[in-house]
Amino acid sequence: MIILKNEYEIAIMREANRILAHLFEHIEPMVQPGITTIELDREAELFIRSRGARPAFKGYRDYPATLCTSVNEEVVHGIPGPRVLESGDIVSIDVGALLDGFYSDAARSFPVGVISPSARRLLEVTRDSLEAGIAQAVPGNHLYDISAAVQKVAESGGFSVVRDFVGHGIGRSLHEAPQIPNFGRRGKGPVLQEGMTLAIEPMVNMGTHKVLIKSDGWTAVTEDSSLSAHFENSIAITKDGPLVLSAP
Ligand code: MF3
Ligand code: CO
Repeated sequence: MIILKNEYEIAIMREANRILAHLFEHIEPMVQPGITTIELDREAELFIRSRGARPAFKGYRDYPATLCTSVNEEVVHGIPGPRVLESGDIVSIDVGALLDGFYSDAARSFPVGVISPSARRLLEVTRDSLEAGIAQAVPGNHLYDISAAVQKVAESGGFSVVRDFVGHGIGRSLHEAPQIPNFGRRGKGPVLQEGMTLAIEPMVNMGTHKVLIKSDGWTAVTEDSSLSAHFENSIAITKDGPLVLSAP
């Protein structure tokens, strides 16, 4: 069952997600060669708490941190630690917060120092695929119109979409129905309605779409060690179309 939210609930979710957009603005300048992923995590936790919210991922299924920091071939759920970011890396930062009973969830992939033209294109295409998916989030469309739009942009760019992780509904739980694959056929899936709140999150790989989980039980990496990017926004479907909640 997909839980619809009223305008008051959506207003709270907007605030919970706005914190994440502001967090990205705050930490983007810190994403430089020489910083460790745990330093980014500490800063993010302080930032979220200073806004009166709580980190959403910490403690979720025993996840130990505020951020997921996934570097290069890491797809999602990389655990912050002593790893030092180097020029040429890309790092995907995924974060959620809990404010007044509602969750937020968003991710951005950042370049570290100077990155290759192909890595830059991967970041651009992944962001474009998210935008294309969001544009389909209008009442009357079908859920997999979002999926198909994401897939088309990613694959037209010469990249592959991860199958093993999906976007999701979001609200009083971090993960609600429906699951939102990043591949699918137009015209399929439930009909989208005003009041649905969705976290749309393409993970796009340079090589194979296949992923493996490392021995830490969390970190997903590409099977062929090719680069991977991840952009996520939480949105609400309104009568006027998609409202991006995780925007400044
Ligand atoms: N954005 C990711 C998701 O929707 C966040 C993972 S939550 C974690 O699943 F706590 F498990 F890391
Ligand atoms: Co998510």
